[in-house]
Amino acid sequence: MSTKFVIDGLKATIEDKEILKGINLEIKGGEIHAIMGPNGTGKSTLASALMGHPKYEVTGGTAELNGEDLLEMDVDERALAGVFLAMQYPSEISGVTNSDFLRSAINARREEGDEISLIKFIRQMEAKMKELDMNPEFAHRYLNEGFSGGEKKRNEILQMLMLDPKIVILDEIDSGLDIDALKIVAAGVNSMRSEDRGFLIITHYQRLLNYITPDYVHVMMQGRIVKSGGPELAARLENEGYDWVKEELGIVDETVGQA
Ligand SMILES: Nc1ncnc2c1ncn2[C@@H]1O[C@H](COP(=O)(O)OP(=O)(O)OP(=O)(O)O)[C@@H](O)[C@H]1O
Ligand SMILES: [Mg+2]
Repeated sequence: MSTKFVIDGLKATIEDKEILKGINLEIKGGEIHAIMGPNGTGKSTLASALMGHPKYEVTGGTAELNGEDLLEMDVDERALAGVFLAMQYPSEISGVTNSDFLRSAINARREEGDEISLIKFIRQMEAKMKELDMNPEFAHRYLNEGFSGGEKKRNEILQMLMLDPKIVILDEIDSGLDIDALKIVAAGVNSMRSEDRGFLIITHYQRLLNYITPDYVHVMMQGRIVKSGGPELAARLENEGYDWVKEELGIVDETVGQA
């Protein structure tokens, strides 16, 4: 079945402050959507709210993956349903090795009695790590513990490659990556493009989108998607910043508005 992810009027608050004020977005299998927007406009909040992070309270709207209500599911169920988030700041988990973490995540997605064999798992992980030019030692290190910024990002992509998700949300996957790593990560993402997988890529820079060509680019401001277009929109934002969008749409800076 082809993937369809529909977010309709999603609202969310953090400590009673409304951050998401009605997000509408439809991602179909095979599509790559990019979200750009100034700092603090709610991009990571959208990612966390979709994953079911407990700090964010969804106060309105719906999010459905292939007709299933995501908002009714707990965090694990959302992951099992095929939603994957590469976080802007991946968490460190001491005491759990990267390979143990990945293997149990894979097995959680399989029927009981149909667990992946150790040999097959190791072979797969080694192949994917090679693809990402990762040192094999990283398999045995505790998850993200002491990883450099760029190493964490590459490790998130390793998880994406191994877990075969239906909806991939990448939150600033390009931040902290060196130029070669950016290309490697982009190649990893491009290798996963398929008719039954959709992508939502949050980024500040067009640079990443030179390597991963989006079908749609959305601008998020003050908790809403205020403008959508194609890759040319990202190019214009890179050149001109966000002021022209605000002027065009009559958006007043919140801090100014509150004075
Ligand atoms: N735990 C929290 N308590 C209070 N405010 C929060 C909390 N988490 C996020 N916020 C606020 O929510 C707003 C949106 O944050 P969010 O991280 O979603 O922004 P963003 O668009 O991802 O920004 P950036 O581009 O800097 O990553 C910000 O003003 C932020 O300060
Ligand atoms: Mg963010």
